[in-house]
Amino acid sequence: MTDSFIIAIDGPAAAGKGTLSRGIAEQYGFHHLDTGLTYRATAKALIDAGLPLDDETVAEKMAREVELAGLDRNILSRHEIGEAASKIAVMPAVRRALVEAQRRFSKKVPGTVLDGRDIGTVVCPAAPVKLYVTASPEVRARRRYDEIIGKGGTADFDAIFEDVKRRDDRDMNRADSPMKPAVDAHLLDTSEMSIEAAFQAAQSIIDAALSRNA
Ligand code: DC
Repeated sequence: MTDSFIIAIDGPAAAGKGTLSRGIAEQYGFHHLDTGLTYRATAKALIDAGLPLDDETVAEKMAREVELAGLDRNILSRHEIGEAASKIAVMPAVRRALVEAQRRFSKKVPGTVLDGRDIGTVVCPAAPVKLYVTASPEVRARRRYDEIIGKGGTADFDAIFEDVKRRDDRDMNRADSPMKPAVDAHLLDTSEMSIEAAFQAAQSIIDAALSRNA
């Protein structure tokens, strides 16, 4: 097989999409790209250079300089960077630049796992496997809260809950590439599902698609 086998995974923050995507990439020996990091890296480059977050031309230039190989999840996971990323993610010129880079990545062989908000709908609409991983806002806020507390930090559940809802609203209601399941995506609601169960469900969908492709 010379073509790449693409697995597109979309859904809101803290639904378990990142853990699932990394696990799947490892299991199948595929390359993984968390596309949220490309928006975050663009936002961080603007912040670090003291540039505004509302100038689309400047933001596009930064987006074109993002190196996919150098994306560091630990550095980019900061809350303020996520907020800034969500603001520049509404800009069509930024999206065009990052989508081009994401599409180039998706062609790596033997296969790739891309996770984000618009992979199945815009970045790789022909992907043979599309998953939409979701969970209720309460469950996602609770997971984020538990994660912070688990690391010995302090957190305010109500503030996190409001933040999750605000971020969903921005991602789902933007004009360009809003977050939504592709019509042919498999929905995985992890509200009441363990990560192991979600992984098994994903695995049977992927195995079926791989045998169709063989
Ligand atoms: O998944 P995340 O929190 O790292 O994403 C950061 C922001 O980038 C988020 O507000 C949504 C946006 N994003 C996007 O618009 N399209 C993607 N494919 C991935 C992320």
